[in-house]
Amino acid sequence: VDGTTQAIYQLHTAAQRLYQHILLNTTSGEQALAYLHDKRQLTDDIIKNFGIGFVPEDNALLSYAHDQNISREVLQASELFISNDQGELRDRFSDRIVWPIKTERGQVIGFSGRARNANNSIKYMNSPESPFFTKGKILYNFDRAKNQIRQTNTVMIFEGFMDVIAADMAENPIGVATMGTALTREHVKQLARVAQRILLVYDGDVAGQNAARRSIDLIHEYAQNVDIGVIHLPDNLDPDEVRIQLGLLALKQALEQNIQTPVEFLVNTARVGKNLSNQVQYLAFLQEVMQILKVASPVEQDIQLMRIANEFGTSKQALQAQLQQSIDQKA
Ligand code: CTP
Ligand code: MN
Ligand code: MN
Ligand code: MN
Ligand code: MN
Repeated sequence: VDGTTQAIYQLHTAAQRLYQHILLNTTSGEQALAYLHDKRQLTDDIIKNFGIGFVPEDNALLSYAHDQNISREVLQASELFISNDQGELRDRFSDRIVWPIKTERGQVIGFSGRARNANNSIKYMNSPESPFFTKGKILYNFDRAKNQIRQTNTVMIFEGFMDVIAADMAENPIGVATMGTALTREHVKQLARVAQRILLVYDGDVAGQNAARRSIDLIHEYAQNVDIGVIHLPDNLDPDEVRIQLGLLALKQALEQNIQTPVEFLVNTARVGKNLSNQVQYLAFLQEVMQILKVASPVEQDIQLMRIANEFGTSKQALQAQLQQSIDQKA
């Protein structure tokens, strides 16, 4: 790396230390710390392990950078500041709690900042895309989790940082998260190099289910030898909400037990929003199921058709015939 990049890296490392110090040890961090303790149920140890910090409104990083005589070129290229119309810089993540984002090797290259009061402003803000911060390649927590991922041959993909941290607290330190964007081919290839099993742990809402569907397709496409599992979370909660509302043990159990195969997950989501005692909707459901099953293994086809036969009283032969029709249509 060249001198500017080196200086940008050093500034990020210094920023992370400064922000954490402000959160843990100063009065301007008190409210943010109370929020993390009380609302998010985080201990100081967890806050330290994940390098969480707080950015006050007094431009603390800019003052530090001036003291260090860091050039304006580096300050601007670092993307840690924003400039107003007069060209004056101020700390980008002002009044936000920040999570450092690191490379696979542990170098801080950006932050994600959360507003304490999400009603007043945009909840999450990330470092912008730059030559050294490319969201399509970054996986939150990969640096910390990589050894455990290798050892267990398993990685869990979450939507958010707090979900990764919640899983870590629940003795599943094998979580990573994408930076508020969808999983990419690069992410998949990176993970397939260290694990043969990828577990998707997305939020229990519609957005999370759609994300899971896209990720399943992507993993099938770029990592054929990887086993995929989808973790179902109770009550439409996200993993962190499971921890807070139902407890650490409930999260631990869900992560270790509520696993579905992709086919199972897809068939289950095909039911959502349909009244299956209505014949029109039941037939539409079957159409969707056949599209899913026509690329599934014979055993999974059998399991799912048996289930449907038992639940709805349609004969297994008829279901099998319809599946065969769907397969023939494709050819
Ligand atoms: N995210 C992001 N930028 C956004 C929105 C979301 O980077 N504008 C990322 C964050 O990493 C966030 C994750 O996507 O943790 C999941 O988003 P969401 O489920 O909406 O976050 P919440 O669970 O609601 O966040 P929190 O628990 O902090 O309230
Ligand atoms: Mn407290
Ligand atoms: Mn969500
Ligand atoms: Mn969420
Ligand atoms: Mn959440």
